Order: sequence, then structure tokens, then C-alpha cells
Amino acid sequence: MLCFRYLYFVIISSTAFSCLFLPKAAMGNCIPLPNPSSSRCLSKKSKAYPIDTTFNLPSPLPSWPAGSGFASGIVDLGGFLVTQITTFRKIWAAYEGGPDNLGATIFEPSPIPEGFFLLGCHSQPNNKPLFGWVLVGKDNTNDPSAAALEKPADYTLVWSSQSLKIKQDSPVYIWLPTPSDGYKAVGHIITNSPDKPSLDEIRCVRSDLTEQCEADGWIWGNNSNGLQIFGSRPVNRGVEAQGVSTGTLIVETTGNTSATTITCLKNAKSNLSCMPNLAQIEALIQAYSPWMYFHPDEEYLPSTVNWFFTNGSLLYKKGDESNPITVDPDGSNLPQGGSNDGAYWLDLPIDESAKERVKKGDLQTSRAYFHIKPMLGATFTDLAIWIFYPFNGPAKAKVGIIKSISLGKIGEHVGDWEHVTLRISNFNGELRSVYFSQHSGGQRVDAPELEFKNGNKPVAYASLNGHASYSQAGLVLQGSDSIGIRNDAAKSNMVIDTGVRYEVISADYLSIAEPPWLNYLRKWGPKINYDIDKEIEEVAKVLPGKLKSSFEKFVKSLPDEILGEEGPTGPKVKTNWYGDEV
Ligand SMILES: *[C@@H]1O[C@H](CO)[C@@H](O)[C@H](O)[C@H]1NC(C)=O
Ligand SMILES: *[C@@H]1O[C@H](CO)[C@@H](O)[C@H](O)[C@H]1NC(C)=O
Ligand SMILES: *[C@@H]1O[C@H](CO)[C@@H](O)[C@H](O)[C@H]1NC(C)=O
Ligand SMILES: *[C@@H]1O[C@H](CO)[C@@H](O)[C@H](O)[C@H]1NC(C)=O
Repeated sequence: MLCFRYLYFVIISSTAFSCLFLPKAAMGNCIPLPNPSSSRCLSKKSKAYPIDTTFNLPSPLPSWPAGSGFASGIVDLGGFLVTQITTFRKIWAAYEGGPDNLGATIFEPSPIPEGFFLLGCHSQPNNKPLFGWVLVGKDNTNDPSAAALEKPADYTLVWSSQSLKIKQDSPVYIWLPTPSDGYKAVGHIITNSPDKPSLDEIRCVRSDLTEQCEADGWIWGNNSNGLQIFGSRPVNRGVEAQGVSTGTLIVETTGNTSATTITCLKNAKSNLSCMPNLAQIEALIQAYSPWMYFHPDEEYLPSTVNWFFTNGSLLYKKGDESNPITVDPDGSNLPQGGSNDGAYWLDLPIDESAKERVKKGDLQTSRAYFHIKPMLGATFTDLAIWIFYPFNGPAKAKVGIIKSISLGKIGEHVGDWEHVTLRISNFNGELRSVYFSQHSGGQRVDAPELEFKNGNKPVAYASLNGHASYSQAGLVLQGSDSIGIRNDAAKSNMVIDTGVRYEVISADYLSIAEPPWLNYLRKWGPKINYDIDKEIEEVAKVLPGKLKSSFEKFVKSLPDEILGEEGPTGPKVKTNWYGDEV
């Protein structure tokens, strides 16, 4: 009976691997399986997994304008060189556990270019197309007494899948390199053999060229496996941080995390020669500028700041509220620097018809404002794309069976700054991910999950009234299914390619002159004083009795940025101006 079952599986499964519980030699002889329940291992890999496909951007990358280090394939970290490898040899896969219970795969970079060495292995869940990379390193110190890279002194076996009864390829062995004094391990070496690998197969890195690392994204495993696999990233991230992501996996075995032993790399001399120059930035914008869709019901569209100023917005000063002044087209008469201290604020024109007109913005002349940021020790360039809206419309909520109800003044505010951020590899200029800002948080979406239009331009949706950005059309509820703030995103004929009318407003490493309005650090709209109870009462009128009190409780629990009582500040005051997106 077992034999028939076995034969059946072989026939339907074109990719049957050697089975963990059944030696290869035994398979042909059709001897009874040692453990009847292990027949499940024979059905492994009988279907295709998303990871079997390698993701490529829809169009080939353009050839970038000439420059120094950008897209040259190699980054100099000050003592040694790294390059990013995206071609792999598969070492092992589990076909269960991990995201969507589809398992995960471990890879080593292959081929490794002449003179470079393995620093660690890479892993990805099987539920997504292959889009990984891992760094390999080359010593160019020419100083044998203080080499940047050194063979490990030994290895410790940290985990093996040998005894796991799961759908997997032939068992895997995960080894932690024991570095020599003054060196640190950047990754594990992973084999299919219980024998210790040769010490020549991986390199450790001199301690001063490393930085503390943390887990980034769960890849596979749980407590019953005794192992969890994560991605890795530097703990300190931001425009001035020197930590470099390596693309290696880190593991957590029961009671022991490798995040404390495995390190990230460090751009020790803060060398930014791999950042794009101005011509390269313009080419990046033409290659990847997002298309931004506005909701078909959107009334409050973007404008340039120039349009906002010249169409009658006013600057108020605390203590002198009755004498607001008009603002110069480039904002040069706005107070510069200082802090968000409430001493000044902007507001709409006083005249009612001018006010209503300015609230609607002017999509046809609006612009995208680009801020260019060196990230992750400048192995990446972030292009933060800021859009200005004169007005943020009222929030809408879903309350029970009432699908959409406007919350009146709740959520409204003057002056709304929103952004999406592109992350580009400085090794080759490839778009890796896009961060979509949503209220005070947001979401990072990797390139394989983006929608593209006209080649490699990602699509972004600005939600109705609140202008939070999303990678997909549809409804996102903040709150619960029974009561929540609506974020509606949809396509319409109101759409812009952010690379058509744009301005690069800041790139510190290029000493670009910033427009005066960028250094206005006070509020772009007044602090709104409204009576929350009165607004709630107004909205609650139409609600059935039993919904009223839960609605009231919900509204009062909303954060300030939705209640809209605080006027918003400009891009430079947000923490992500200098920091990583969170
Ligand atoms: C930065 O890296 C480039 C490219 O390798 C190199 O030519 C340059 O000398 C480096 N600058 C410093 C200050 O190390
Ligand atoms: C742990 O992972 C295995 C696969 O490796 C899976 O079969 C099992 O259901 C998981 N257990 C839990 C508690 O999630
Ligand atoms: C954690 O791993 C390190 C390095 O292999 C080892 O020295 C230590 O004993 C481990 N600790 C536990 C609790 O297993
Ligand atoms: C609005 O601003 C634009 C751009 O500065 C300007 O051309 C236009 O005349 C302004 N319209 C009004 C009514 O002020």
C-alpha cells in the first residue's frame, strides 16, 4: 500500500526531491517507509511557489548619466569594497511554516566576483517572487596587519533541520563563524552537510567596519521548530547614520538571538561618493516618478506653495492677529528657522470666495517637491516626494450599517503636507521599495508588490480628503469594522506624473539652495478651535440611538492628527526628514 502511494506521488510530482526520511537508495527499492506519517514529505514541492519566479521591474533600467560612484556596482566602505549580488544558489527550502504557510528558501550568492568573499547567506519567504540581494566583500586595505576581512577561527553549529518532520529539502545546517580577535561575523554559513565547512568559505569583518544590527521582518520558523529566521538591518538609520544593510539572514534559536552576534557593516568614512549627482537624480526622477491618483470625489487638490501664497493666503503673528500679511511668492518674507513655537501660522484668505477657491488647490499647475536623502550608509538613495495641499477635507467614518458619514469639522485643516518615498539601490540604480505615508505612520511596499504604469513608474493613490497615500485602490478603515475612519482610494481622471512638474528642494550632500519656504518651521495652518461635543452631536443626530454612544467614544479616542486641532508643520519639521521612514 505504501509503495503504491509512493509511486503515485512520484508520478504526479515532477520535482520530487530526495526525502529526508527515506534514503535515495531505498526509494528505488520501494521498501516500506520508516515512518508512515512521513509520506507527506514525498508530496513536497509538487506545486510552484511565488519564489520560483525572479521579479524584474517591468522595463529594463536606463543607462544612467555619467558620474562618480552611483550605479557603478561597487561601494567603497572605507577599507573594503562591497558589491550587491542578486543571483543565487539555493541551499535549502522548507515548504511549510513562514508567511502564508508556504515556507521559505535559503540562498547563497552565486557566482561571487573574483576577489570578493561571502559574508553571509540570504533568505526569503516562498510567498513572494525572488527579489533579494546580499553583499559580498573585498579587502582593499593592502595591510596584512589590519586586514578588513579575515577567515573565521572556527564555526559553531547553531541549528539543524535534521530531526524536523516538515516538508523540506535535504536537511540544512546553520553555522555561526567564530571570528578572530578584533573581527565580527556578518552572517552565517549554511550547508547541506553535517561536516564543518572549510574556514576559507566565508569572511569576518574588522570590528571598526561593523555596526549593531537588528531583526527586520520575519521570514520563517517558530518555537516548535526551535528556530526563527529574520532579515537584518542596522539599528541606527537616518541620513547621517553609517550602518549598512548586508542582506544577510539572522536567526533566533530558542533563548538565543544572533542579532547580538551578527553585525551590519559600516561606511566608516561616511563616503557619499555613491550618491547620484544632479543629472543622475533627474534621470532617476524620469525613470521612477510615481503616478498619483486622486479620488473621483476629491475636492481638495494639491497646488504649488507659490500658488497658495500668491492666491491670498496670509501669515499671522501671535499677539498681532488683526494684521496678517501676504506672503512673497517664494516665501522669502516668512520667518526662517526657529522652532514650531506657535509664534506664527499661515491661514487661508479672509474673503469667503477666495477662501473656498484656494481650498480646492490647482492640480494643473501643482508640483512635486523632491528631497534627496543618503540612506543606510549611502548604499541607498531615498527620494522623498512631497505634495502640498492647501486644505485637508473633513474625515469620513463608517458607523455600523452607515457606510459613510462626514465628520464635519473633525479632520479638517489648512495646509497639508504628504509624501511618498522611493528607495533606490546605489549599486545599480534599481528601485527597491516605496514608502507610502499614511497619517502619522505609513507602509513600506517592496517593488514586486507595487502597481506600475508607463514603464517603471509606481502608482500611488491619495485618499479622499485626508490625502494619505496607498499602493492600492480600495478602502482602508482606521478603527474597527464596526466604527472606523474611512480612507478611500480610487482611480479617476485626476492624476499626475510627479516627474512632469517637479523641483528638487533639498539635497544636503550637493549643497542645493533650498527655497525659503522650506525653512519656515512654524505651522502651515491655524490651530483649529472647535467644540468637539458640538460636532459629535451634529453628526450623531442621524445615527440610531445605540450607535450614538459608541460613536462618541470612538471620536474622542482619535489622535490629534485626525481630530485636526493642531495646524500641520512643513516637511523639514517631520522626523523622517533626517530619519528613516517608520
Ligand atoms: C570615497 O570613495 C571613492 C570611490 O571609491 C574614492 O575614490 C574616494 O577616495 C573616497 N573618499 C574618501 C574621503 O575616502
Ligand atoms: C511551526 O512551523 C511548522 C512548520 O515549520 C508548522 O507546521 C507549525 O504549524 C508551526 N507551529 C505553530 C504553532 O505555528
Ligand atoms: C548563544 O549563542 C552563543 C554563540 O554561539 C553561545 O556562546 C551561547 O552559549 C548561546 N546561549 C544560549 C543560551 O544558548
Ligand atoms: C494664483 O496663483 C497663480 C500662480 O502664482 C497666479 O498666476 C494667479 O494669478 C493667482 N490667481 C489669483 C486669482 O490670485
